[in-house]
Amino acid sequence: MKAILANEPLPVSDPRSLADAEVPDPAAPKGRDILVRVEAISVNPVDTKTRMLNHPGAAGAKPGPRILGWDAAGVVQAVGEQVTLFKPGDAVYYAGSNQRPGSNAQLQLVDERIVAKKPAKLDFAQAAAMPLTTITAYESIVTHMGVDPDGRDKGRRLLVIAGAGGVGSMAIQIGRKLGLEVIATASRPESIQWCRDLGAAQVINHHQPLKDGLKAIGVPEVDCALVCSDIDLYWTQFIDIVRPLGTICSIVRNEKPADIMAIQRKSLRFAWEGMFSRSTYQTADMIEQHRLLARVAGWIDAGEVKCTLTQKLTPINAANLRAAHAKVESKGMIGKAVLSGW
Ligand SMILES: NC(=O)c1ccc[n+]([C@@H]2O[C@H](COP(=O)([O-])OP(=O)(O)OC[C@H]3O[C@@H](n4cnc5c(N)ncnc54)[C@H](OP(=O)(O)O)[C@@H]3O)[C@@H](O)[C@H]2O)c1
Repeated sequence: MKAILANEPLPVSDPRSLADAEVPDPAAPKGRDILVRVEAISVNPVDTKTRMLNHPGAAGAKPGPRILGWDAAGVVQAVGEQVTLFKPGDAVYYAGSNQRPGSNAQLQLVDERIVAKKPAKLDFAQAAAMPLTTITAYESIVTHMGVDPDGRDKGRRLLVIAGAGGVGSMAIQIGRKLGLEVIATASRPESIQWCRDLGAAQVINHHQPLKDGLKAIGVPEVDCALVCSDIDLYWTQFIDIVRPLGTICSIVRNEKPADIMAIQRKSLRFAWEGMFSRSTYQTADMIEQHRLLARVAGWIDAGEVKCTLTQKLTPINAANLRAAHAKVESKGMIGKAVLSGW
């Protein structure tokens, strides 16, 4: 099969960083695995970090060729003997596990418990834009912030740092769908407009003090904050703007030590979201990722959640993948970049 290999931790400007290759097909699926013919893929910051081998959660934290890619849409080719959710011919979307070869290949094995049927309304390219960011945003809001999945927390205020990015775009939409008042941060006219179009009630600039931005829109405090960028910059600011007993959830690691005592006085809760944790540790509830992807697919098909694809490159090859990595590394993404077709 065709695949794109990350060979060495090289800058993306070097053609050897990601290279076209011919590799053996995966083995026939066993157990709960399904074999998927990949039709479209999307690129996330985890791809660029793993390419540079600085992402400790990645199984590839060792030198050598590796297939990256943790967002895909495709068609089921074959299923393991314990598979109950899918059959050959089903169109699916998933992020997969970073402990296994990724989706930058024509064929991929993935555990059915972290896969769902592709939203019918979306084509493969559109569907590939969605899964990793959907899982991350949904787990942050529902699992970690404890927001009621059936909308009984209507009116709770959620602040989303980096609202126009891949995860922020889904957090705005999932928060709004669950009845929250979402305040997003963005700094450019086009990213501010994107957040508004996705349903953010208000947008403030993350390059200004958050407290001032909230004050200017008449909001003294938020109930919860989702950190999708630079937690070191925002950690101490949250102490002023998250209400007592509120929640801070971060999807990004701190680079500097954070003072945990700073959030004690207000009894703030802090949670990490790691969207690969369930698959890495094969948790008993990893099927929750199948369920949430299926649920959000329903919202997409009902027109309640929009596709976040903003850039499409064709075909799936190393040159286009390097271009997408470069765009993600710029930290200026709005929505998602996708590659489709071989
Ligand atoms: N833990 C997990 O499970 C998990 C899952 C997914 C992603 N992540 C991590 O989460 C981060 C975000 O991922 P993503 O895909 O959403 O990223 P992304 O799409 O690349 O985010 C781009 C956005 O970041 C904003 N931004 C840039 N610098 C910022 C700053 N200093 N403060 C606030 N916003 C800033 C930009 O907004 P403006 O242009 O408006 O400034 C831009 O729209 C990455 O580090 C990624 O590795 C973790």
